[in-house]
Amino acid sequence: MASNLIQNLFRKKPIGACHNQFGLRRVLSAFDLTLLGIGAIIGTGIFVLTGVAAATQAGPAVMLSFVVAGLACTFAALAYSELASSVGGCGSAYGYSYAAFGEFLAWVIGWDLVLEYGVAVAAVANGWSGYFNNALTAIGMGLPQSLTAGPFAPEPGLVNLPAVMIILILMVLLIVGIKESARLNAAMVFVKLLTICVFIAVAVFHVQPANWSPFMPFGWFDTLPDGTTVGVLAAASLVFFAYVGFDAVSTAVEEAKNPQRDVPIGILASLIFCTLIYIVVSGLLTGLVPYPELNVSSPVSHALQTLGINWASALVATGVITGLTTVMLVLYYGLTRIILAISSDGLLPSFFAKVDEKTHTPVRTTVLCGVIMAIMAGFIPLGTLAELVNVGTLAAFVMVCIGVIVLRKTAPDMERPFKIPGGIIIPVLGVLSCGALIAFLPSITHARFLLWLG
Ligand code: ALA
Repeated sequence: MASNLIQNLFRKKPIGACHNQFGLRRVLSAFDLTLLGIGAIIGTGIFVLTGVAAATQAGPAVMLSFVVAGLACTFAALAYSELASSVGGCGSAYGYSYAAFGEFLAWVIGWDLVLEYGVAVAAVANGWSGYFNNALTAIGMGLPQSLTAGPFAPEPGLVNLPAVMIILILMVLLIVGIKESARLNAAMVFVKLLTICVFIAVAVFHVQPANWSPFMPFGWFDTLPDGTTVGVLAAASLVFFAYVGFDAVSTAVEEAKNPQRDVPIGILASLIFCTLIYIVVSGLLTGLVPYPELNVSSPVSHALQTLGINWASALVATGVITGLTTVMLVLYYGLTRIILAISSDGLLPSFFAKVDEKTHTPVRTTVLCGVIMAIMAGFIPLGTLAELVNVGTLAAFVMVCIGVIVLRKTAPDMERPFKIPGGIIIPVLGVLSCGALIAFLPSITHARFLLWLG
């Protein structure tokens, strides 16, 4: 009996066992997937956290923080690509863990991903609400405090209404259909990229090289007496949030036209593109104004405003609202697909595994997630919970890299349409670099993460 139980805990899923069993439609091309990735990646991280990280942790060397975090993500992205093309299957890191480590660890990673995606959507909805209300205020229609903050916020209100509304709107969109959602996503990604191009084009002519000095005022890494961490590496584990989301491409395996080829392209193309954008934008931003001035909620438009370029500032703010919408859309989409995968394996009630015959989308899961995330976004202040997103994501990355190493040993003959060159060196570097970024997070975040997993 006991040995049966233990055997079950480590029961592995046959490789490729969950290829397109839900009746989802294969409609997404490599281009759609790349846009899906960019949709999920560029958001709060570059538009908000860059300023906080530059002002409080790294100074102009925040550029290097993006390089460090981007490198760790590249190792993990290669691991994701190998497993997405070979193990295939559903549920992203959850599915790979099932094939590599068996049921128990897959279940743990499944809940880790639910934390990552669910909290990320609710956190980004809070940021979106702030920008949205700023825009309403600018046209004289600002909402009262009671409708823009929950009861537990530092400045309390009743409910964060815009955050609730945007999640419910996205819920309806995701129920209507994935191709429709992908189309809207593509349009919004276009606006987001246009915004960034405008910023770059304007900023290039206003950089003051003197602002880049001192370049690294906080050094590489230090812990202050109050427990806060500073330095380029501490900032790297904060701005890592900017990269969260490229893994969402791997949740679309079931809806990709040619998953073995297109999913690796989608993951790597979106990550490389965003890394380059981040380095350029963070470099320009810290060149525009002295870094201590960037600790504000919208540093990019703030910098432009400081220089008196108001039209560009307003345009960037509009782009940010659009940009944050795509981040929520793609992460929300990924969350429903992960829950679908877990429940179809019997690790959550089968109630959630149903895909609607008309819309071809998992309506029940989409509604349940939407309502829970809307409540979280509306009533809970998510500032500190957002840090959980980083530690949860990094833990999933570590598991995916270990998964590649384990499967190279346990399933050496598995067909690998995309195989990382150089043996297991890159997955090992992935484990080390993502593990290091976890270590650079504040210890209170580690404690909260363990509590969640417990
Ligand atoms: N990478 C996403 C963002 O920065 C989560 O908003």
